[in-house]
Amino acid sequence: MTKLILRALAGETLPTPPVWMMRQAGRYLPEYRATRAQAGDFLSLCYTPDLAAEVTLQPIRRYGFDAAILFADILLICQALGADLWFETGEGPRLSTVTDAAGLAALKPAGAIHDTLAPVYETVRILSRDLPRETALIGFAGAPWTVATYMIAGRGTPDQGPAHALKSTDRATFTGLIDLITEATIIYLSEQVKAGAEVVKLFDSWAGSLKGQDFTDFAVKPTARIIAALKARHPGLPVIAFPREAGPGYIGFARATGADCVALDNSVTPEWAAEHVQKDGCVQGNLAPGHMVTGGEALVRETRRVVQAFSGGPHIFNLGHGITPDADPAHVQLMIDTIRNG
Ligand code: CP3
Repeated sequence: MTKLILRALAGETLPTPPVWMMRQAGRYLPEYRATRAQAGDFLSLCYTPDLAAEVTLQPIRRYGFDAAILFADILLICQALGADLWFETGEGPRLSTVTDAAGLAALKPAGAIHDTLAPVYETVRILSRDLPRETALIGFAGAPWTVATYMIAGRGTPDQGPAHALKSTDRATFTGLIDLITEATIIYLSEQVKAGAEVVKLFDSWAGSLKGQDFTDFAVKPTARIIAALKARHPGLPVIAFPREAGPGYIGFARATGADCVALDNSVTPEWAAEHVQKDGCVQGNLAPGHMVTGGEALVRETRRVVQAFSGGPHIFNLGHGITPDADPAHVQLMIDTIRNG
């Protein structure tokens, strides 16, 4: 029997939506914190296939999610392209920056990424062997704009100011970087699929700060190019796109990019998205992650609301963004029970 997530991605309306969570392997789980301590630091965890596979499997064992998402990070590809990358505890990622033509020229070619990313493919191979038969395996990458915002600023930024500045002051370097990341992402995701990923997801976490023509040029077009290249190499491969905070940009995004499913954040209501986005195909989302912290009646009520709003079409239940470290693991179980038992 075909896995539930693959059926939803193929456009089937299921009586109960399949469910997984962004960041489902993460710090809210004591077993994750233990394995991370064993690895020493976050990047070592990402690059040690046995341990990365172990943390990927932990939420599957605990909750029986319908999909596992490869444990890695969208910023590993920056390192594979030659940037320095480290994580400051309690703060987040730090990278060497790309701010001019010389910085772009100093990066490695897209074809060189396997030297660094080979352990990620090994993690995918272990998972495709060890996952339960009914669990789909999702591979992923960051979308070019979002990855570029980190490579240009050298860190997360509230408004992606440095990337927007480079886009207007040195267009050639900016578009050259977007093109390099696009090429590398095609190669990276294709290799994940060869290793056993059954679905791929593109995270464009900062898509919402691109407006007007910029949204078309740097959110829609690179995504469309990646999806077309992947589908040419792997016919029938389902792709989920997450243009976070795209707002009205969600309308028509699946058609414009060739994505099989659009993931929704919490800036749109499920009722609005059912009417304007789900009419074009499968959607994923969009319970607010805060309910995993607060639980209770509101969690049950809002979970039912999301299920109900999307019940007329193909839907994969998820949060609108990643689960946070302060979430209570019992609230995740309550969400799943509510989805599956009504
Ligand atoms: O979803 C999953 O469980 C799969 C693994 C995964 C991680 N990051 C693990 C991770 C995925 C898919 C990501 C995506 C990612 N990484 C995004 C896009 C999604 C989003 O959240 O918008 C972005 C922007 C990043 C970059 C990144 N990685 C940041 C900004 C941070 C620091 C903030 C934080 O949450 O700590 C990370 C670290 C990170 N990536 C952690 C995990 C489990 C926490 C690291 C730890 O254990 O200390």
